[in-house]
Amino acid sequence: MNVVQIEKDKTKNIKNGDKMKIGNVEINGFACLAPMAGVTDRAFRELCVDFGAAYVVGEMVSSKGLTYNNDKTKELLELSEKEHPAAIQLFGNEPDVMAEAAKIAMEYGPDIIDINMGCPAPKIAMNGMGSALMKTPELCGEIVAAVKNAVSVPVTVKIRKGWDKNSVNAAEVAVVCESAGADAIAVHGRTREQQYMPSADWDIIREVKRTVSIPVIGNGDVTSAELAARMMEQTGCDLVMIGRGALGNPWIFREISMLIGHDRPSMPISNAERISVLLKHISKLCEYKGEKTGMKEARKHAAWYFKGVPGAASLRKKAVELDTFDDLIELCKLVEV
Ligand SMILES: Cc1cc2nc3c(=O)[nH]c(=O)nc-3n(C[C@H](O)[C@H](O)[C@H](O)COP(=O)(O)O)c2cc1C
Repeated sequence: MNVVQIEKDKTKNIKNGDKMKIGNVEINGFACLAPMAGVTDRAFRELCVDFGAAYVVGEMVSSKGLTYNNDKTKELLELSEKEHPAAIQLFGNEPDVMAEAAKIAMEYGPDIIDINMGCPAPKIAMNGMGSALMKTPELCGEIVAAVKNAVSVPVTVKIRKGWDKNSVNAAEVAVVCESAGADAIAVHGRTREQQYMPSADWDIIREVKRTVSIPVIGNGDVTSAELAARMMEQTGCDLVMIGRGALGNPWIFREISMLIGHDRPSMPISNAERISVLLKHISKLCEYKGEKTGMKEARKHAAWYFKGVPGAASLRKKAVELDTFDDLIELCKLVEV
């Protein structure tokens, strides 16, 4: 049997009900929501779960901020009953601080603790955290071991292809993390140098999948159900992780469940449903964060939801001026449904 056949069979096994597990946590579906700072808050995570996201990861949280008892940091940890299984993602580079932060995070009831080894932002990576950890695989292992020792839930890591083109070491880091006790590994197929462009390299996901025995979560450039199916087939990954493809597009999880689970493409979403999802999203956002903060954050979300509707350019221009939920209702009335 060739590799492609094996990988196709895997998709078939999943369809047939062989549920994937991260440690003891059952993952019921094919796609999960990627952690995205400033985006994957409780309102958005709940919405994605409603549309069938099999698992959600919150915004990255500073391990130092948590151990310093910073209230703003703690707000990021709030999880509701409607969004499980869910992971809290921590960043940092000191094993003992990461372990202490993981214990604090456990008070919020996550099903999984995820460790950020992929963030390219200068203030993180230039301080030895996020993607910079990949330069010292041994330290990656120490962090995983320390966190694993501190909590009773599965521990996962999210890595990139490597630091730059001269240090592509995703498979090596994956092996170290697996040996240190990681229960799954998410791989974003770009180096830190590449940030979010050019297109993600899915071959590196396949390489990691062939190298470790723990589940591998594939990430990078999945913006449709067809691409989710293709990533699973090409890489053999156990779960697909969706980031930017879910922005203003949370129904991508429904489309993936339909296509991979039932071999049926979904009907394109109507403008009426698009607007009703946008309003539901922003009303949750305002409920959880208050209207002032909620509506500030709503501006970017509204612009994403308007992508592709007639008159999108003018709607997006107006979206940056939103101040109240009523403003949003008025703006939505301009959309032809
Ligand atoms: C706005 C934004 C915020 C992000 N924040 C995080 C984060 O907090 N933690 C993390 O591990 N990755 C973060 N990422 C990276 C994504 O999780 C994902 O790896 C990346 O966007 C590639 O996947 P995609 O092509 O599906 O978007 C972020 C990405 C974006 C666009």
